[in-house]
Order: sequence, then structure tokens, then C-alpha cells
Amino acid sequence: MENEKLVFPKGFLWGASTSSHQVEGYTKNNWTEWERENAERLARGARKKWKQSQQERFPEMFDSQNYISGKACDHYNLFKKDFDLAKELGHNAHRFSIEWSRIEPEEGIFDQKEIEHYREVIEALRENGMEPFVTLWHWTDPIWFAKKGGWTSADAVKDFKRFVEKITYEFQDIVKYWIVVNEPNVGMGFGYLLGSQPPAKKGPISFLQAYFNLLKAYRQCYGLIHKTAQGAHVGFAHSFYLYEAEIWKPINGIVSSVAAYFSDYFFTRTDGYRDFIGCNYYQEITLSFNKKKQPDRETTDLGWRIYPVGIYDVLLSLKKYGLPVYITENGIADADDSKREKFIKEHLRFVHKAISEGVDVRGYMHWSLIDNFEFPDMRGFWPRFGLVEVDFETQERKVRPSALEYKKICESNELEIEG
Ligand code: BGC
Repeated sequence: MENEKLVFPKGFLWGASTSSHQVEGYTKNNWTEWERENAERLARGARKKWKQSQQERFPEMFDSQNYISGKACDHYNLFKKDFDLAKELGHNAHRFSIEWSRIEPEEGIFDQKEIEHYREVIEALRENGMEPFVTLWHWTDPIWFAKKGGWTSADAVKDFKRFVEKITYEFQDIVKYWIVVNEPNVGMGFGYLLGSQPPAKKGPISFLQAYFNLLKAYRQCYGLIHKTAQGAHVGFAHSFYLYEAEIWKPINGIVSSVAAYFSDYFFTRTDGYRDFIGCNYYQEITLSFNKKKQPDRETTDLGWRIYPVGIYDVLLSLKKYGLPVYITENGIADADDSKREKFIKEHLRFVHKAISEGVDVRGYMHWSLIDNFEFPDMRGFWPRFGLVEVDFETQERKVRPSALEYKKICESNELEIEG
């Protein structure tokens, strides 16, 4: 059989994503302090948290240094080199975040030098032919903001808006796509409900306060950015999951719908406040008391269930909004790079299928450009998500074979499926 070529729409954006705290290094925010105070405890807790096979493969999880972001990938200094690599890899778009704690290290005082730094970052992207997608809050807060109570504080909305207004004013001439917040469901869930990542608050009251402040801030920032930056495209990155319940047939449907309702609540409350949909998709989540009942799936190094058709289901569910969709994250923890190529190709096959059925998908940004500090739920450095491998000691970069396969897709704007 002949190979089939799936052609993507003209002007499709191809690239990768990162976030400041995960790659830059030397950040001084509410995570930095917390990491130092909790690293030993997290290293001790690894035995309970991860499976035996994961513990054997990644003994770094028992080292407290795994939980301290420290110099991370030193991307703050090496960004030009990293963007040269992205360009070589055929990317024409890049998502990254601006670190609020650098811009406003003290309440109400902006650091002009850091603003200049991010101008250089954005210009470097533009010079390399990459469209910047700028995230304004990827879970980290300045220390002064955290001291006031973080997102539970009565000032939270006002404080965040001051930063957003400043940044959008400064960069309105060189940035078009604004991702105001990243994955509110995940960030708030781990940070304010389960307490497994900073600010490590536990309990429904703080969670609801923080969640609704973030929602309010987002909606107000939508208007604010449009007022400040002409022609801006404003949205946020939402983590879409496919929930399957395997508990007891008569209630499975209800259980999955309830899980999806809560997981997507923020998303559904922002109708009319989005110019595009930022879609992060990683895995299928099976809600079950009985592991044997779960359908057999390949898993990632983190144990996540790989389910490429899920991205198609998610995208089709977004068709009714009639908005452009950008895949703002999709990726795999795969240290030996044995599954990444297939993962990318399979997911893209289903992205293409959704496009052919009328979903207006305009770009795909893989998570991540480089291995980094995997900070959700404080996992640390061992899960390797990069198209490019990073040696965290020497800061050497090594392009993974799967990145070269992805390059072919980016450059040709098509995916070849073997017949
Ligand atoms: C987050 C990233 C993270 C990735 C992989 C998303 O939840 O936005 O910060 O590294 O998933 O876990």
C-alpha cells in the first residue's frame, strides 16, 4: 500500500512550549523558597509515590536536588541557543511564559532590566521566524504576592491586572497571542486543594477563593489586554482530559460527566472571553477502583495512559465554539525516546482528522522544547519531556531522534502515514 500524506492547512503553526520556572533557572518566586524547605521530605516520599519500576529506572527521585529548580536549564542565559535549535528543528512558533516575579519583584515596582530581557527573548524568536505565544501566569507568584495570601488575597485580581497591563503595554508591538493563564484546573487543584505544590494550601475554602479570583482576573484581563494592545488575540491554556469511569455500569456515565464538569468549569465560565482556545492534552484518565477493569494502554515514564484518539474527541467537542484552536501542549515523559515519535505522529493523525471534520485547529506546540523541571505535583527533574535532551550538570543540549522526525512534519506541513 502507498504511504498516505496528511496535509495540514496553509500557515499552520508548528513549535514547542516551555514555562519560565521550568526552564529559566535562578527564579526567586514562591516556589523557590518552598522547594528548598520541602526537598528532603519529597525525596523521602518518592518511595510511596512512585511504582517500583519507576524507582528503579529513575533513582534521582530519591535525591533532594531533584526537587530544587536551581539553575534548571539555564534558559535565562541560553535562550538564544535554544531558539537556534528550535529554528533548526523547523519550528515557526514558540510558547513560553514571562516570570511575574522577575518583572515585579516588589509590589508595584517594575524592573525595567527584566522587561528588556523579555524583549530580547521575543525579538530572538521573531528573528528566527517563530511566532511567540506568551503565557502570563504559569503557576508561579512573586514572593510579596504569596505573602499576601496568593490567589486567596482580596488584592489578587488587582495585583495581577497591574502586571498584565504593564506587560501587554510593553510588548503590544511584538506579541499577538496572549495566553493569560495556564491550566487553572491543574494549578489550582494541586496548589490550593491537594496541597501537593506551592502554595501548598489544602482545603475547599482556600481553593474556591483562589479559583474564583483567578477566574475573575482572567475575565477582566481579557478586556484589559484588548484595551491595551490593539489586535491582540487573547485566550488561556486549558488542560482537557478524557474521563472514563469503570466503576459500575449504571453510574459510569454520571461519574465521568461530574468529573468533566468540575475539570472544565473554568473553561465553561469563560465563554465570550476567548479569541482562541488553547488546548493542552496528554492522557486519558480512568476513574476506577479496580485496575484490572481499565482498558490496556501503553503508558509514559510517568505512568500516564497514552490515548491519541482522545485528542480527536476533545477537538470535536470544541467545534461548537467556532473558534480557532491551538494545541498549546501535548507531550510525553519518555527518557529513552522510544515512544515519542509514535506519540507525536499518532496524535497529529487525530488532530488532522479533527481538522478534516471542520475543527479550526491552527497550530501545534509540543511539550516541551527541552527537558526541564517538571514542577506539577513536584515531580522534579527525572521526567524527560524534551524534544531536546538536557544534561542538567553541563547544560549540554542533544537533539533527540524524535525531534528530527517532528522536524520533517514541521517543514513539510504534512504527516506521512505508512500504508
Ligand atoms: C503543565 C506543564 C507541565 C506539563 C507536563 C502541564 O500540566 O502546563 O507545566 O510540565 O503539563 O506535566
